[in-house]
Amino acid sequence: MDEQLEQIHRDLWSELSRGAVDRHHGFHVPTLCTIGADGAPSARSVVLRRVEPEPGELWCHTDWRSAKVAEIRRAPRVAWHFYAPERKLQLRVGADAEFEATGPRADDGWSRSALSSRRAYLAPRAPGSACDGPSPNLPSGVLDRRPTEDETVPARANFGVIVTRVAAIDWLSLASEGHRRARFMRAADGSWSGRWVEP
Ligand SMILES: Cc1cc2nc3c(=O)[nH]c(=O)nc-3n(C[C@H](O)[C@H](O)[C@H](O)COP(=O)(O)O)c2cc1C
Repeated sequence: MDEQLEQIHRDLWSELSRGAVDRHHGFHVPTLCTIGADGAPSARSVVLRRVEPEPGELWCHTDWRSAKVAEIRRAPRVAWHFYAPERKLQLRVGADAEFEATGPRADDGWSRSALSSRRAYLAPRAPGSACDGPSPNLPSGVLDRRPTEDETVPARANFGVIVTRVAAIDWLSLASEGHRRARFMRAADGSWSGRWVEP
């Protein structure tokens, strides 16, 4: 990789890392795409929860009962889409995903989750279940408030982390003086290569 590509690669990982911790960053709520049972793409917003540049990992949290978990188990290839309008920066990321409901990584994700985030995992019914009318799918006692730590204990059983290992990144930077685009690929030994492509 030339020096400019090396720099861009370092910068994009630090932007991703910022996106995980700064809820005002455009990368904080990316789109995660999986492949549905019928082979059709399936896209949804998720919160970017953790970025590990060295192993090349992007993490989010979800309910094991949600459709995306079954989709990942069936077909682990996923795509992420990020756009930070304040930086005019798009990243399209290809990765392999796994879902973990137990173990140190899931426990760590849970322990770092705010009580307000944990509340969603108190949902009595699986996300996506048919219902007779509009439903928040939450116990009525916590509808208008943040649960206590004790109240979130049963929610842990529904929670897990989706850990995705990045294989390829398409970087696009918009600018009035000319857009720039590059592609980065990760080899089996973990090393990265990069090349310029036309925007
Ligand atoms: C701003 C925003 C953030 C969201 N964050 C998450 C998240 O971090 N994890 C999650 O499972 N769903 C999140 N959702 C809900 C998903 O977009 C989706 O509706 C839900 O997970 C069900 O998806 P599935 O049926 O494809 O599994 C978020 C939705 C929005 C609008």
